[in-house]
Amino acid sequence: MTFSVSPAAQLTAHDAPLLGVNIDHVATLRNARGGAFPDPVAAALLAVEGGADIITFHLREDRRHIRDEDVARLKAAIGVPLNFEAAVTDEMLDIIVRTAPEHVCLVPERRQEVTTEGGLDVVGQFDRVRDACARLAQAGSRVSLFIGADPAQIEAAARAGAPCIELHTGPLAHAWWDRDASALQRERERLAHGLTLGRSLGLRTHAGHGLALSVSRPPAAQGATEEGPSSTALVAAMADVAELHIGHALIGHAVFVGLKQAIADFKAEAIRARRAAA
Ligand code: PXP
Repeated sequence: MTFSVSPAAQLTAHDAPLLGVNIDHVATLRNARGGAFPDPVAAALLAVEGGADIITFHLREDRRHIRDEDVARLKAAIGVPLNFEAAVTDEMLDIIVRTAPEHVCLVPERRQEVTTEGGLDVVGQFDRVRDACARLAQAGSRVSLFIGADPAQIEAAARAGAPCIELHTGPLAHAWWDRDASALQRERERLAHGLTLGRSLGLRTHAGHGLALSVSRPPAAQGATEEGPSSTALVAAMADVAELHIGHALIGHAVFVGLKQAIADFKAEAIRARRAAA
């Protein structure tokens, strides 16, 4: 089986979305044995060498992967913008302000979830999110809100004063993994409308969660012909996506091809998709 999808040749394009590489899964692997290896900070440095535009990490309340000391080490070591994902809690806001990352992405968090399962409910906790946006802007971080492609949430994000939103691509990614063509079409349209609305409200629009390359998806049942583009390509092709944030499938792909090649493969996929759509 061939895992790599492109040479790591010329992989920059002005029009392609920036790639934020989420390194949480390296920390998960480290923590599985309780030692220091593999080190997520070393992985982040390698990711930057491989072309990551942004390093993303999520400091969860339960510290299940990234830990406080990782955050301090990332801040000291990494030369590209850090994107600090966190829940809207007083504890996290204090740590973010102390860390002063270039970017912050506010996410919902439930203790029992496997990963970030839904978008932030900006409508339902408007005052809290608005105050967090103001505090983080004051501290010099660019704030993004991770929300579903739901018009009410997008409009609330703009009213809350966030300069950016990251639209949750989980539903689209699930439909793609499941080869559910009608759900995929519906989610593509929902995402496209969300991006358009966000841009019309003056927001910078990002996308992420669950995105993958076709080499990672198990083959279709015999007889199926049309495979279509990868979920990464489908989203990268949308001109309003300024940044893609990808973790699990990229780190998974790296198991087979190495981290630098995995980043090259995702970047090449995004660039190809954007150019083809232009
Ligand atoms: N964006 C946000 C806000 C996330 O919380 C996550 C998951 O940590 C991702 C993107 C990346 O998702 P995945 O690991 O499925 O690529």
